[in-house]
Amino acid sequence: MQKEGIEKQKILELLEKKLKKDLSYDSGSILGSMCSEPLNIAKEIHNKYISKNLGDPGLFLGTAELEDEVIREIGELFGNSSIYGTFTTGGSEANLIAMRIARNLRPHIKKPEVVLPCSAHISFDKAADLLNIKLKKVNLLNNFQLDLNHLESLVNDNTCAVVGVAGTTSLGLIDPIEEIGKLIGGRDIFFHVDAAFGGFVLPFLKELGYPIPAWDFSVKSVDSITADPHKMGLGIIPSGGYFIRDASILKKTGFEIPYLAGGNFQHFHIVGTRPGSPIIAFWAILKLLGINGFKEIVKKCMENTKFLAQRISEIDGVKLAVDPVMNVVGITTESGKSICEVEKSLRDSKWMLGKFLDFNLVRVVIMPHVKREHLIEFSSDLEKIVKKLKL
Ligand SMILES: Cc1ncc(COP(=O)(O)O)c(C=O)c1O
Repeated sequence: MQKEGIEKQKILELLEKKLKKDLSYDSGSILGSMCSEPLNIAKEIHNKYISKNLGDPGLFLGTAELEDEVIREIGELFGNSSIYGTFTTGGSEANLIAMRIARNLRPHIKKPEVVLPCSAHISFDKAADLLNIKLKKVNLLNNFQLDLNHLESLVNDNTCAVVGVAGTTSLGLIDPIEEIGKLIGGRDIFFHVDAAFGGFVLPFLKELGYPIPAWDFSVKSVDSITADPHKMGLGIIPSGGYFIRDASILKKTGFEIPYLAGGNFQHFHIVGTRPGSPIIAFWAILKLLGINGFKEIVKKCMENTKFLAQRISEIDGVKLAVDPVMNVVGITTESGKSICEVEKSLRDSKWMLGKFLDFNLVRVVIMPHVKREHLIEFSSDLEKIVKKLKL
């Protein structure tokens, strides 16, 4: 650190220089991210209320109440307005909280196991590592759907939780949540749905008339849901969400924090100090957009998704991994050859996509920052690359 302070103007100039390497969402080249540019109202509000700390909710009772209000509204969207929950740092923390609750509620299970699709997010591997839980991964069928028979065969007396995904990371597919619920129904197994991405897409797709199967708290056996405002909610990065049907579970599994200035509160988060401003910002987003505003955003994303899907089907050498269910497009090779060279060439010509080696595909997430002109340019580059590589 230098000895004397530097003038603000100079600091700003230095930062501009240093951060030049960062990509911006509006450049169009970020095609493989599930985050996007937060809405302007969220940025303004986040800035204004940046010092709110819900690690000590007794000091910020207004913010704490606002969080409860947002949770109730999200509950309405997810089929049950009387749920409880909390904002988190993202989907990974929310999934970790879910797995901890599932394990701790069942202390009689000495070697706890979680059954989950092999398409589930890597955050469950992290959670398993941290919590000393064994993961049992369910195979997918050829159409990338979950193999329910395999799932059933993996459930046993050590199973503390089963996870379904509503909007998989690789392809945006929805696991058969109702069917999974029926399979485990009546047994003491925690049922968690990871809708980190799908949570702020699926309710609006349904409103738009898409045939979306039940995936939320309307399915009676679903105990908790992850859904992230910083993905399709267009909230501040980071803002994730963990939602649970039965609030009393949190009381049983929370940590008493005895020293808080605002008085005793329980924590069930991984973090202690917890920013309130992303919550306040998301409250404002819900007010600004309403259901119709979100519907409009999702509708545009789906129009662009269909456009890209059509373009992919016109390019010899590559094909869609599956017909998109939501705004995620998986691209694989027609011949079954590795997708790696395609991905590398795309990256070399500025296109930043996600690569999923298990499924031999690259993924484009059609977020609101992805515009039609970006997709026209991308698909024409892809066509050239595929020709050059003689796929
Ligand atoms: C389905 C799913 N769950 C969880 C996560 C993790 O979210 P985060 O990166 O916010 O921790 C992701 C991230 O893409 C995801 O796709």
